[in-house]
Order: sequence, then C-alpha cells, then structure tokens
Amino acid sequence: MAFFKFLRKRDTSGVPSKRRAALVAALEAERLATTAGMQEFLRKKTGFVGTSPLLRRNIHRLEKGLCMPTRRPVFGEAYIMETVTLYAKLVTQPKASPPELKWATDVLADYFSKVDITARTIAPAHEIWSKLPHNTSDAPHFSPYAARDLPAYVGAGALPDYPSFLALTRARRSQRWFMDQPVDPAYLAAATAAALQAPSACNRQPFTFHAALNRALIIKIADLPLGTEGFGHDLPALIAVIGDLSVYAEPRDRHLIFIDAGLAAMQFMLAITAQGLGSVPINWPDIPENHQSLRDLLGLAPHQVPIMLIGVGHPKPDAMIPYSAKRPVEEVLHVIA
Ligand SMILES: Cc1cc2nc3c(=O)[nH]c(=O)nc-3n(C[C@H](O)[C@H](O)[C@H](O)COP(=O)(O)O)c2cc1C
Repeated sequence: MAFFKFLRKRDTSGVPSKRRAALVAALEAERLATTAGMQEFLRKKTGFVGTSPLLRRNIHRLEKGLCMPTRRPVFGEAYIMETVTLYAKLVTQPKASPPELKWATDVLADYFSKVDITARTIAPAHEIWSKLPHNTSDAPHFSPYAARDLPAYVGAGALPDYPSFLALTRARRSQRWFMDQPVDPAYLAAATAAALQAPSACNRQPFTFHAALNRALIIKIADLPLGTEGFGHDLPALIAVIGDLSVYAEPRDRHLIFIDAGLAAMQFMLAITAQGLGSVPINWPDIPENHQSLRDLLGLAPHQVPIMLIGVGHPKPDAMIPYSAKRPVEEVLHVIA
C-alpha cells in the first residue's frame, strides 16, 4: 500500500510524524469514501430511484452538442444508447423527479429532431425512444434556447444592477450571534432554491443540505468541527452541506463535490442575507472520525462527505461583527492582455 510505504519512508520533510500520520488517515478515509461512491455509482446505473446523475450528465452533454454554433448531423453516438436506456428506466418510475423527467424528455426530443436518426450509431436508440411514452407538448420546454430568451436577460433590466449586487455581497458578513428566535424553514427553502441555481460540473449537483433546527442536534453537530467555540451551541439553525461521491465513475472527479457544494453554499448565504437573516460559514476539518460522527448523526451513507456547516439566524443587532478587511482588486486580479 502506497500510503503505508509513504508513512514508513524516512522523513526528510521536517513535518512531525503525528501530522504525517493524520494525513495518511485522512487520505485513506478519502479513498474509502471515493470507492464507496464509485460502487454506488455502478449500483445506481441500473438501480436508481427518481433521479440518475448519469442521466443528468448525459442530457447535459446532449444539450452542449445541440448548442454548438455549427452542429454536426451526428453526435452523442458514444452515449446515446446509454442515455435512452436510463431514460426508459426513469419514465416508468412513479417517483421520477419531475424536472429531471421533463428536462430529459424535452432534450431527447430536441436531439432526435435534429440529428440524423437513420445513422447506424443513432437509429437503435431512436427506435427505443420512439416506443417509450413521453409527453413533449407542455411548454415551456426544458431544452436549449437563445441567449436573448434568458428569463431575466441581463440587458432587459430585470436584474439587480452591479451596485445593488455589490451591496448584497457587502451586506453578507459572517454573523455569529443571533436572537433567540426560531428560523422559519421557508427562509431555508428559499435560500436552497437560490443555491440550486449555482453551476455544477455537468449539472450533477452532487450535494444535499441538512438543516438542524433542534437544539440537542445542533449542539452535537456544532461540537464536531473546531471553529464554533463561544457561539456554536446557540445557533438557531445549523446546516450541514454534504457532498455526494456517488455521482462519479472516475476518481479524478472526486474533488468536484467541494467546488460544486462551495458554489451552491455561497448562493445559499447570499440568499439568506437577501432575506434579512444572517449566516456564518463553518469550517469542516478533514478528520475521519468526525466525518463518521456526522454520518451517524444524520443517517448518511459512506459516500456522503461533509463539506462545511452554515449557521443561520436572525442577527442580534448589537452583536459585534469582525471587520474582515478584503484584499484590493489589483492584488488579486491579474489581467493578461
Ligand atoms: C470555508 C470557511 C470556513 C470557515 N470556518 C469558520 C469557523 O470555523 N468559525 C468561524 O467563526 N468562522 C468561520 N468562517 C468565517 C470566516 O472567518 C469569515 O468568512 C472571514 O473571516 C471573512 O469574514 P466575512 O465572512 O465576514 O466576510 C469560515 C469561512 C469559510 C469560507
């Protein structure tokens, strides 16, 4: 095992052996979670219920092909049969996710109307598709559209202008002390709707948000990470952002859970601010035992990985907020003309 060889190797780094051992344990835990994810991915290829990350990815790939300025008459040959097979499974499920089913239906209809369905590599998939029950009549269609038809097209004046947007980003500050007032789950639902608009690799959205509103559970969760001293027990709501490694076939993709969940978490926090509440992001240190403790508390599977926590509440008006000066733009933006 490469990990153990690494640990036994004579240490020339100067890093204390305790820290090297912690790194090995963390990497081993990541290996186990990633393997559990890839196993679950294989299982879900045939046994998914309601939603299929592979179908989402394939539909997304078809959409990209459909959006090409010079579209080829034949594309998607490598995965169209797999896509139609997954679709056939989804379409018969009473628990099929409604937006996923509509999206897949409309994109496949668009695809088959635009490619050469007599091509040897496409015809068999088209034949299966044409025999499946599908309803493509309901507008609006969940398939590619022109930029000018974006619902809130940037030039159309329906969006906040840059100063308003910048003001929102400035109004979001990490707030740690909240009033003793429950958080209505409707605020969290509205923030999650904004979070779900975030980009994610191949639109797989590999995360779930678990919101604890119960004091006993909040205390147990808040005690796991290291950065909650002095405020963790009093948070009115504590959201665990959890990554899902079962959406990937390849180990090279395993870090996408951090990127995708991080992007979604940012939108969640901005939406909390936009509703007049406050939030604090909380670090989730990579400590294998803590991953397991949180899995036990929330009933999670081995392929589900904690990414971060977010405390939410109605801020106490007189509570102090660190200034947290930001770096200047010139220091961060390197323009290469
Ligand atoms: C990934 C991440 C982890 C963080 N972890 C903690 C934490 O454990 N405890 C805490 O009090 N604040 C935590 N914060 C909040 C930061 O301290 C804060 O974002 C930073 O100082 C900038 O301040 P601002 O959020 O008000 O702009 C975290 C922020 C991020 C993005």
